[in-house]
Amino acid sequence: MHTLTLRRPDDWHLHLRDGAMMHAVAPETARHFGRAIIMPNLIPPVVTGADAAAYRDRIMDALPQGSTFKPLMVLYLTEETDPEDVAAAHAAGIATSVKLYPAGATTNSASGVRNFDKVRPVLEKMAEIGMPLCVHGEVVENHVDIFDREAVFIDTVLDPIRKATPDLKVVMEHITTSQGAQYALEGGDNLGATITTHHLVINRNDILVGGIKPHYYCLPVAKREEHRLALVKAATSGNGSYFLGTDSAPHLDGAKLSACGCAGCFTATNTMSILAEVFESEGALDKLENFTSLNGPAFYNLPVNEDTITLTKGDPVTYPEAIDTPDGRVTVFDPKMPLHWQVS
Ligand code: DOR
Ligand code: ZN
Repeated sequence: MHTLTLRRPDDWHLHLRDGAMMHAVAPETARHFGRAIIMPNLIPPVVTGADAAAYRDRIMDALPQGSTFKPLMVLYLTEETDPEDVAAAHAAGIATSVKLYPAGATTNSASGVRNFDKVRPVLEKMAEIGMPLCVHGEVVENHVDIFDREAVFIDTVLDPIRKATPDLKVVMEHITTSQGAQYALEGGDNLGATITTHHLVINRNDILVGGIKPHYYCLPVAKREEHRLALVKAATSGNGSYFLGTDSAPHLDGAKLSACGCAGCFTATNTMSILAEVFESEGALDKLENFTSLNGPAFYNLPVNEDTITLTKGDPVTYPEAIDTPDGRVTVFDPKMPLHWQVS
């Protein structure tokens, strides 16, 4: 097979940032993707419906002329979030989902949730109106090893929330473990999971063997190879529980290559080429469309994109090592393998 036509893909987890960075990275996603769920972890965070509407307008201004890309806005859940504001933003079509960050779990999560009981009224309102909750699934307790934080979160936070609010639609964002993949699979129609491009490609050795590789550091951190293999199996299965959320998270090189480097891999530029390579090596190119273009809209109760993209296979394709912003370079994720598929 040398060409592959898919419904236009969507990215169900994306960081566009703001200002000059947003202007530099938004076209990278808009080039191939129809829609994206836009993470709200700005400083200050996108908390209210009014914040989301203003951010959406700034994103629209950053898109290339003629782009039909649609940002799907997300509200950042705090212990002070007003259920009525959330419901109004959802009813007005301003906000698609709400993001739960355990406070301290990741980049700009300080305003997140410490006491999960405090957000119970918001979760109940969301269950009532059918609005999905996107969850960063890691506990933050110091005594829990960073490689165990996802599995412990599922048992001690996520499962109790879902049992208390069974009608709440939940997306387990960027799963990184076999436990995450299994829990998502067993969770029924109200549970889905996004998988990133980079977690299908790297394991923890890629970060740590032969010198520390800051560009492969992200959160949740990549785990053992057996977990990467479980994620590849999940993504390439075509099962509706799993869909693409790149978590493409641009940071300036200076912030990555530091004594306290930021978490995030920037994959917007080459994601579709990498995914095609991964799916082809599993003999699962026929499942790529499920993962990138069909399963996400089905979970979010949105129509699939009307138009298509075509990937063509040929000689290895090269991508820029980095994109330039007025403030500095952002390194593009290096999958460390030749990429033969290109969006034509
Ligand atoms: O690697 C990550 N980067 N994980 C996150 O959860 C946040 C993101 C970011 O905003 O940089
Ligand atoms: Zn993210």
